Amino acid sequence: MPEAMNAHLTASFFDSTKCFIGGRWVAPASGDYLDIENPSDGTVIGKIPRGGKADIDAAVAAAEAALKGEWGKMTAADRGRVLSRIGRLVLERADELARLEALDVGKPLKQAKADAIALARYMEFYGGAADKLMGQTIPFLDGYTVYTLREPHGVTGHIIPWNYPMQILGRSVGAALTMGNAAVLKPAEEACLTAIAFARIAEEAGLPAGALNVVPGLGEEAGAALTSHPGIHHISFTGSVPVGQIIQRAAAQNIVPVTLELGGKSPQLVFADADLDRALPFLVNAGIQNAGQTCSASSRILVHRSIHDELLGRMAARYGALTVGPAIADRDVGPLVSARQREIVEGFLGHVGTAEIAARGKVDADAPDGGHYLAPALIAKVTADHKLAQDEIFGPVQVVIPFDDDAEAVAIANGTEFGLVAGVWTADGGRQMRLAKAIRSGQVFINNYGAAGGVELPFGGTGKSGFGREKGMEALYGFSTLKTVAAWHG
Ligand code: NAI
Ligand code: MG
Repeated sequence: MPEAMNAHLTASFFDSTKCFIGGRWVAPASGDYLDIENPSDGTVIGKIPRGGKADIDAAVAAAEAALKGEWGKMTAADRGRVLSRIGRLVLERADELARLEALDVGKPLKQAKADAIALARYMEFYGGAADKLMGQTIPFLDGYTVYTLREPHGVTGHIIPWNYPMQILGRSVGAALTMGNAAVLKPAEEACLTAIAFARIAEEAGLPAGALNVVPGLGEEAGAALTSHPGIHHISFTGSVPVGQIIQRAAAQNIVPVTLELGGKSPQLVFADADLDRALPFLVNAGIQNAGQTCSASSRILVHRSIHDELLGRMAARYGALTVGPAIADRDVGPLVSARQREIVEGFLGHVGTAEIAARGKVDADAPDGGHYLAPALIAKVTADHKLAQDEIFGPVQVVIPFDDDAEAVAIANGTEFGLVAGVWTADGGRQMRLAKAIRSGQVFINNYGAAGGVELPFGGTGKSGFGREKGMEALYGFSTLKTVAAWHG
C-alpha cells in the first residue's frame, strides 16, 4: 500500500475497530474482526468489528434508553440544531471523508467528495425541517376537537449498501433522527469506514448517547439480527432484491413497516428532437458514474431509430475516451467494489450473444494488478427482452435499444420488473408531460437525469425496485407515524 494511504488511515480521527453503542466505543462481543480491502489494489488496509446478535441487542437497548432519556425529550428545534451541527462538521471534513471512502470502496475522489457534500446537505436539509412537519386539525362532530400528531416510530433499523455509503446513510438516518427516532445502523461489510467516522462526528456535534448506534458486520449475522429484532419498529433497507425479500419476511414476523430500495434498470428515452449536445454527457455519465454501481444508474438508452446510428456513434466515442484507474488517481471510473462484483459483471458480459460491444473504456496501463478494474462497455444491437436489457448488472455497462414511436418507447421503458428512475429527452412539451405520466417509475427527469443527487427530491421505486420514499420532505412521513386525537368537550 502506498505510504500516504497508510498514514492517512492510521492518523484518522476514529477507531474503525469499535462499534458505537449507547454513546460508547466498544469492541464487538465476539472479539472477531473483518478485513477491509482497498478495491483499487486488493490490499488489506485495516479491520472492522464483526458485530453479531449480542452487539445488536445492546444497540437496540441503547436506542430504547435514548428514547426514554435526553434524546426522547429533546424538542424538534433542538434535534434540528444537532443535525445542522453534524452537517457543518461533515462539510469541514469532506476531504477526509472522501479519502476514506475512496480507499474503502474504490470511488474516484471527486465522486467521493460529492457524496460527502451530499451527506452534509442531508443533515442541513433535515436539520432545517425538524420543526416544520405539522399535524392537522380535523372538523368533526359537534362538541369535539380532533387533531393529529406526528410521532417517531421508536427504534429504526438501517441496513445500507456499499455503493453510496454516505448518501444512503444521510437520507435514511438523517430523516429518522429528524423525526425523533433512535437509529441502529448496520453499514455494508465492504463500506464501514465513513459510517464509523460519521458516528464520531455526530458524537462531537452533541448527538445524545444512543440516538445513533453503529454495528458493523456481515449481512447474515449483524444484519439479520437487526432486521428480525423484536425491539425494532421500522426498517429501512437499500440493496439487492433477494435480501429485500428476506428483510420483508423478517419484518412480517414482527409486523414492522419497511422501506425497500432495491435498484433498477432505469431507461433514458431519446427522441429525434432531443438536444444531443446537452444529453450526451448525462446519457453516458448516468451509466458509468460510480462504475455503474448505482441503484438509479441509467443502464438502458432507448433511442428513436432515425437518430440511433448518430447517437450510438457519439456515445461510443465518449466510451472510447473513458479512463479507468485507482480511486486516488481520480479517473472517470474506479475499480468495482470487490472481486465478486467484478465477477458478476463479467458474467453478464459473457451473455452478449447476438448483441455487439460497440465500445469500451480503457483501464490505466499501470493500474495495480490486485484492483478490481473493468473497462466500461457500451452494448448495441440489443433487443428489449435480452438478459442485458432486463437484469440489473450493477457495473459500467449500458445497452442501446432503438424504438420507432412513442408507444413503443413507453412499452420498452415499462418492460422490466423494475421502476426506479427514467429520463426523457425531447423538445416537445406535450410529449414530456404525456411520457412523465405513462412511464412506470418513482422519478422521471425531463431533459436531465439524476439532477445532481437531489437531496430535496422524493426517491423510491415501484415493482421490484421496492416501495416507500426516502429523500425530501416525503421521507419524514415514512419515518414517523400518525396519531389522531379526538377530544370530546361538549
Ligand atoms: P446485499 O443486498 O447483499 O447487501 C446490502 C446490505 O444488506 C449490506 O449491508 C448487507 O450486509 C446487508 N445484508 C445482506 N444479507 C442480509 C440479511 N440476510 N439480513 C440483513 N441484511 C443483510 O447486496 P450485495 O451482496 O452487496 O450486492 C449484490 C447485488 O445487489 C449487486 O450486484 C446489485 O445488483 C445489488 N445492489 C443494489 C444496491 C442498490 O443501491 N439498490 C446496493 C447494493 C447492491
Ligand atoms: Mg450480499
